Amino acid sequence: MGKKKNMVKNMLNLYSLGMEKGLLYETIVTTRNLDGTPNAAPIGVVCKKEDEVVLYLFEGSKTFDNVKREKSFYVNILKDPLIFVQSTIGNLDSTEFKSHENGFSINRAEAFFKAEVTTEKVVKRKDHMGTSTQMVIRAKAQETVKIREQVEPLNRAIYGIIGALIYLSRIDMVSEDKRKTNLDRINEISRVVNKVGGEDDKKAMKMILDKLKE
Ligand SMILES: Cc1cc2nc3c(=O)[nH]c(=O)nc-3n(C[C@H](O)[C@H](O)[C@H](O)COP(=O)(O)O)c2cc1C
Repeated sequence: MGKKKNMVKNMLNLYSLGMEKGLLYETIVTTRNLDGTPNAAPIGVVCKKEDEVVLYLFEGSKTFDNVKREKSFYVNILKDPLIFVQSTIGNLDSTEFKSHENGFSINRAEAFFKAEVTTEKVVKRKDHMGTSTQMVIRAKAQETVKIREQVEPLNRAIYGIIGALIYLSRIDMVSEDKRKTNLDRINEISRVVNKVGGEDDKKAMKMILDKLKE
């Protein structure tokens, strides 16, 4: 592990950063504000192919406004819990950012890449949280930079599956009320796994649901 002396920056694509086609990763997207300062926010990024991503941006965030205006952003791959929390409830300290010609990355990232918007579409979406206006962004990944040798993009499916397995393994030990609550939780986990996960994740989740039906 550890930092490499020189950052690897040649001919890398999203697959060489550990991303897989069709999976959704929790990343930190960095953008440039109107006044030139950096902004960071956790954003889900779907890997569409080796050099293409799709983002769903909710109207009302700085990231939404900045991406709409600048037509480019940086995607940072990292698993630092403090960076996720700080960038959700406020913004990161300016010392956390590294400045580039036309944007910013995060110093503590395992890897990052710049993305240029190719298409954008504003849509009204209705989901389990209610109705919202979202911008669907398709972007081309460029200038992929690996800072650490080991890069592991954050995908939530495995955490969900482990959580669901814990509920499953205790299902006969709990009261009827608790059983109902845990079944609701497992169904919610299943929704997330099917949204963000790959084939094996979905298969694993189905096995859990099938076992519950026995
Ligand atoms: C793990 C995680 C993933 C998120 N994914 C998205 C997303 O895909 N799209 C989005 O618009 N907001 C997403 N959010 C919410 C934004 O990060 C949040 O609204 C943030 O405060 C926006 O910050 P900004 O105003 O600096 O852009 C996510 C939040 C978390 C914690």
